[in-house]
Amino acid sequence: MLLDAKELNVRYGRNHAVKTASVSLDHGEIVTVLGANGAGKSSLLKALLGTVRSDGKVLFDGTDISGWSAPRRVKAGLVMVPEGRQIFVSLTVHENLLMGAWCRDDDPEAETEAIYDRFPNLAERRHMPASVLSGGEQQMLAISRALLARPKLMMLDEPSLGLSPILVRQLFDLIRDLNRDGLAIMLVEQNTRMALATARRGYVLELGAIVLKGNAKELSSDTRLEDAYLGGKSDRVNL
Ligand SMILES: Nc1ncnc2c1ncn2[C@@H]1O[C@H](COP(=O)(O)OP(=O)(O)O)[C@@H](O)[C@H]1O
Ligand SMILES: [Mg+2]
Repeated sequence: MLLDAKELNVRYGRNHAVKTASVSLDHGEIVTVLGANGAGKSSLLKALLGTVRSDGKVLFDGTDISGWSAPRRVKAGLVMVPEGRQIFVSLTVHENLLMGAWCRDDDPEAETEAIYDRFPNLAERRHMPASVLSGGEQQMLAISRALLARPKLMMLDEPSLGLSPILVRQLFDLIRDLNRDGLAIMLVEQNTRMALATARRGYVLELGAIVLKGNAKELSSDTRLEDAYLGGKSDRVNL
C-alpha cells in the first residue's frame, strides 16, 4: 500500500471539517474523493500534505510521516496540485515549471524538455508570462510543475473546475496517461461522472465524514451518492 491514512481529524476552531476519516491508496491506483462544496475534501488533502494540522496517522510508502512538515512530505513524493492551480501569472511558464523542482538538488533540464514535448502549447510559450495561458493550459502547467517534484502520489484538487467540456476530457485523458506511466493519483472532483469513470475506487465525504466508499463502478450506481450531495439542500447536483 502506498498511502494509508487513519482517523484523520481537521478542526478550524469549532468547525470540525474532517471527522475521523481513513483513506488508503495502492501503488498505481487512481482513487477519487467526492462530496459537495464544503464537505471537507480540500481539508482532507491538506491534512495528507501536512499544510493543515490534523491528528491521526499517515503512512506513506511504508513510513509513518504523521509528524512531518509539508516540504518533507513533498520530498518523499507526496505532491499536490492545489485547487485553483496557484500559477504565478507574472512569472514565465518556464519559471513556474522550475518551481516544481525546488525540492531537488539535481538538474531538472531533461524532465522539463520531456514536459515540453508532451505539451507543445507550454513549449511555445515557455518564455512568456503565465498570464497568457488559457485556463486549460494553466492546469497543464500546474500538473507539469507537480511532476517536476517526482511524485509517487499526485493529489489533484478539483482540476476540472472552470474548464470547458473538451478541456475536461483532455485533462482526464492526461490523468489516465500519467497513471498508465505508473503514477498513483488521488483525485478530488465535483465532476462525479468523469471521476468515477476514471478512478478504481472512491470515497464520498459528507460534512467531513466518509459516508460511502468502494469500487467506482458500484458507487456510480449507488443512489446514496446523490443523497450525499443533497445534504439537506434543494439544489441538485447533476450526476
Ligand atoms: N482555513 C479555513 N479556516 C476555517 N474554516 C475553513 C478553512 N478552510 C475550510 N474551512 C471550512 O471547513 C469546511 C470544509 O472545507 P473544505 O475542506 O474546503 O471543503 P471542500 O474542499 O469539500 O469544499 C467548510 O465548512 C469550510 O468553510
Ligand atoms: Mg475544496
